[in-house]
Amino acid sequence: MKHYILATLALLFTLTSCGTKEAETKTLILYYSLTGTTETVAQELQKALNADMEAIELENPYTGSYEEVVKTVGKEREAGELPKLLPLNADLAQYDTIFLGYPIWYGTYARPITALVEQNDFQGKHIVAFCTFGSGGLETSIEHLKKAQPNAQVKETGFGIRNARVASTAKELNRFLIEHNFIEGNVEALPGYSEMQPVTEEEKQIFDAACGNYQFPLGTPVLAGKRGTPEGVDYIYQVDNNGTPSTIYVTVGNAPDAKPEFTRVVR
Ligand SMILES: Cc1cc2nc3c(=O)[nH]c(=O)nc-3n(C[C@H](O)[C@H](O)[C@H](O)COP(=O)(O)O)c2cc1C
Repeated sequence: MKHYILATLALLFTLTSCGTKEAETKTLILYYSLTGTTETVAQELQKALNADMEAIELENPYTGSYEEVVKTVGKEREAGELPKLLPLNADLAQYDTIFLGYPIWYGTYARPITALVEQNDFQGKHIVAFCTFGSGGLETSIEHLKKAQPNAQVKETGFGIRNARVASTAKELNRFLIEHNFIEGNVEALPGYSEMQPVTEEEKQIFDAACGNYQFPLGTPVLAGKRGTPEGVDYIYQVDNNGTPSTIYVTVGNAPDAKPEFTRVVR
């Protein structure tokens, strides 16, 4: 009899603790993507996390060329209008962590995300931002998420990648997920950058090769620091763009013909 009671108690304990653990770690990948770039990142995330995933859909999806969408969104912003979202299939109450994905529009998360965060309270949930962009905007969008959802726990660091570098998503996302303990694995820790110094001629050439062809002028580098990584050399530039300062990150791979690429602009 005593054994029977102990065995029952042990079974109950196991069942209860399993149940709790599952409930604690339920994760949803929720994203909006207009042209498929953010969707690529969401799919990589799903492969890595094996979590539920849902795309945010609009009643009236944006249509037209890139320039036309930029114009439409600009008008909506001025008029304070938001796109209408189709109801989500997922029951958000079931999830305690949401990986929230979006393209950067006008320096922050895209308008469908503005609608989402205005219409839902993510109280008590962990939110991890991931986004894609032409040049940058992750940091600003996280600040805006924190303001829009003061009762949620928005993670300070998110994952962001330029649309031009989306092919590097799997590798960079893997590092992000391991470094932030979302998955298990080993990645070599990266060293810190050297102290910022006035840019040398060589560093200026690397900056120009990485940024010179971008569709908008990104400014003139003033100071630079660097670090060696297993894959090559990373540079950090302090940049002056007609009186507006920014920080631009550039990477150059080890291959002899590797082209410098900028990875993000922090404004
Ligand atoms: C309306 C609009 C505004 C945009 N604004 C910015 C911006 O401010 N900064 C930026 O780096 N990229 C900007 N982009 C580029 C997108 O962030 C980028 O192309 C993104 O990868 C698209 O993701 P998607 O394919 O998932 O829609 C903008 C694109 C659109 C359509």
